[in-house]
Amino acid sequence: MALSRVMKLTTDKGLNIELAPFTREEAVLFVKGFEQHSISQYVADHVETKETEEEWYDAMIKDKSSCVWGIWAVESEKRKLIGSSSLTHISTNKHIHQAVSGSIIFDKNYWGQGIASACHKARTLWAFEQMGLHRIKSAVLQPNIGSRKALERSGYTYVYTERNEKFVNGELIHLDCFECLNPADWAWRQWWGNDRPPRRNIEARAKTQAALIWARENVELA
Ligand SMILES: CC(C)(COP(=O)(O)OP(=O)(O)OC[C@H]1O[C@@H](n2cnc3c(N)ncnc32)[C@H](O)[C@@H]1OP(=O)(O)O)[C@@H](O)C(=O)NCCC(=O)NCCS
Repeated sequence: MALSRVMKLTTDKGLNIELAPFTREEAVLFVKGFEQHSISQYVADHVETKETEEEWYDAMIKDKSSCVWGIWAVESEKRKLIGSSSLTHISTNKHIHQAVSGSIIFDKNYWGQGIASACHKARTLWAFEQMGLHRIKSAVLQPNIGSRKALERSGYTYVYTERNEKFVNGELIHLDCFECLNPADWAWRQWWGNDRPPRRNIEARAKTQAALIWARENVELA
């Protein structure tokens, strides 16, 4: 799959965003982003040089178990690459179909404007309604409050904590693992079987349903 289909959306603050492919040359912009500690500090794996970014890009476009979108800000008809959103480790060979999501906005001028939250909702729509996944997994280092907030807002729920995942800024920090379950009846029934879903999953289901309603109204599949 690698680079995925184009999705266009407008955030609640009126910013026009495209989730769309980017070229090998454009991918080098991510290196500049990751040079900033504020951007890379809470990211598990990241590229450090043009060469490693190109290696990542070449592997990514052939990787059938991932879907990657560039996040493009569209202003006065000009498109600017500001980050990426992805589904990786897509596994559809077992009965339960799932993937791992990740995001980065490397241009800090665009932080805190609801862009990641809106892109998560579009990606969730794609994952559940175009790919038929049951579950999306994600993980956030605890100090990364903005990332956690964007995930929870789009219907992800906390599952468990991996202690001492990374040493950052002089201390060991923990990794909170999240999941977003497909709220459709068929997927919900298959996931939970005869078990009673915990309250937090029932609450998250309502948030995921709301995220999907938002996405159906605001996301255009090109
Ligand atoms: C994490 C990231 C993707 C979030 O993108 P974003 O577009 O700024 O996210 P959103 O605006 O949709 O949501 C973030 C929310 O957290 C809030 N927030 C951000 N930092 C915060 C902090 N330190 N404390 C409290 N709230 C914070 C924002 O204000 C916003 O909430 P609001 O809309 O109620 O104001 C972006 O900051 C980023 O790329 N960071 C570097 C890479 C990274 O950490 N990726 C994620 C790895 S898990």
